[in-house]
Amino acid sequence: MSVTTAASAAVPAIQPRRTFAIIAHPDAGKTTLTEKLLLLGGAIHLAGQVKARGERRRARSDWMKIEQDRGISVTTSVMTFDYEDITFNLLDTPGHEDFSEDTYRTLTAVDSAIMVIDAAKGIEAQTRKLFEVCRMRDVPIITFINKMDREARDPFELMDEIADTLALDVAPVSWPVGSGSDFRGCYDLLDNQMLLLEGGGAAGSKKTAIACKGVDDERLAKVMSDEQRAKLAEDVELIEAACPPFDQESYLEGHMTPVYFGSALRDFGVKEVLDGLARFAPSPRPQPADGRTVAPEEDKVTGFVFKVQANMDKNHRDRVAFMRICSGKFRRGMKLRQSRTGKSLAVYNPILFFAQSRELAEEAFPGDIIGVPNHGTLRVGDTLTEGEDIRFTGIPNFAPEILRRVRLDDPMKSKQLRGALEDLAEEGVTQVFRPVLGASWIVGVVGQLQLDVLATRIEVEYNVKAGFEAAPYDTARWIDGDKGEIDRLIEANRGSIAEDRDGAPVFMARNNWELNHIQQTWPDLRFTATRERA
Ligand code: G4P
Repeated sequence: MSVTTAASAAVPAIQPRRTFAIIAHPDAGKTTLTEKLLLLGGAIHLAGQVKARGERRRARSDWMKIEQDRGISVTTSVMTFDYEDITFNLLDTPGHEDFSEDTYRTLTAVDSAIMVIDAAKGIEAQTRKLFEVCRMRDVPIITFINKMDREARDPFELMDEIADTLALDVAPVSWPVGSGSDFRGCYDLLDNQMLLLEGGGAAGSKKTAIACKGVDDERLAKVMSDEQRAKLAEDVELIEAACPPFDQESYLEGHMTPVYFGSALRDFGVKEVLDGLARFAPSPRPQPADGRTVAPEEDKVTGFVFKVQANMDKNHRDRVAFMRICSGKFRRGMKLRQSRTGKSLAVYNPILFFAQSRELAEEAFPGDIIGVPNHGTLRVGDTLTEGEDIRFTGIPNFAPEILRRVRLDDPMKSKQLRGALEDLAEEGVTQVFRPVLGASWIVGVVGQLQLDVLATRIEVEYNVKAGFEAAPYDTARWIDGDKGEIDRLIEANRGSIAEDRDGAPVFMARNNWELNHIQQTWPDLRFTATRERA
């Protein structure tokens, strides 16, 4: 008689997941850090592979070519790698000229983020914007202060800047000794060891770790000058007095950020950040839906679409919808119900993304991202389930940062233009606004490339020639509050009011001053920079 023991019958445990993004201002070192993380995870084997792709992409002036090349070969959108028995899903947040609403929406699909800051520059505009999106969902953030091998600002000044501008508690977990040509390495405050970069960070520098009893450990005398040791001891004393100790709970709630220093280029401090992600960052988090919160441990599969990549090739109209699995075990061929339409969809060719390839996904778990090829049925914000009628919330529209008036070359095509704009808005390519006064549509995007994609798709897919002209508005805010009060505001400001595609009222501001002024004049109304998709 054969006996099945509990152990032999047990399903192998699912590897823990960390689904994260890197947020940074352009040039802070996101690509370099990504590459070093992928090298550590064994997902690429040669330095320069991510970078080369990034540069080739940037060097091309013809954006159509970029889109064609990217088409549906979007391998860099999600990069999956394993490290120390954990599966890491790194979601790319497009930056530079391909900054778009997708950049923001990607952050709705992660459980944590790494914020990269250039040590010479501190918090820059784009870091701040991306941080605000993370804050909406209390996404926990690990900070990496990069480029310590170059002249850097005073680390205490940087700590203050992060704490003040982002209203975050800042807890250094490593601390630099020197910077630029004097950079000696970092003292690991959590595990009491000196991580030494011999050779000051020049190419070929060696890394060594020296276990210490504290910053006054005699072993440090051999590797640092007396002056450096005294400074380190003084700094650590100040940190203990001025900074709160690292508290994982507070980090997980999004109130505190642990700070690491290093140099992505010299591959220094990168392993520590990855270890930090493994040690502290959350596993796939429960996701808010209307009516209830979905826990990752639930049996039934649920997920949401946070990005749709269209193929610009006219002959291949396929799209890939990027879906984050929120619960259950997804299996290839599964039938999923699209909550928006109630229709069901069999997913025969789901894609799993790796740094340099993609594969058919036989199965996927909460926290994983799969690509679902489709012909335009799936839209940004869609919820897919094994049957339950729920919708995930928190995949909103973001206030546009570029607003343009649509100019139609052939007035006979206004119906087609309307159809095109409505379709593309629903797909998440653009936002459209209809001013209360005047007949032209206003489109809103957050990046220039998004506008170029829009113009081409209107022409190629809908056969309508349209151009964009400057609109007198700088930004838009959704208006929320008491209906009577909203009506009074609309009456008093008709020239600045528009409706979004769902008919929700929007205030179009000419500049920041006007936005502040309207907020002060109508203190009972809320002017919001995001709106849940209907
Ligand atoms: P991004 O993706 O955030 O835009 O930044 P990216 O990694 O492309 O880095 C921007 C520039 O900063 C690159 O230099 C890169 O080599 C450099 N860099 C990144 N990390 C470090 C670091 O730790 N130390 C130093 N000294 N430099 C760093 P580049 O001149 O624009 O490109 P390249 O010619 O070096 O490739």
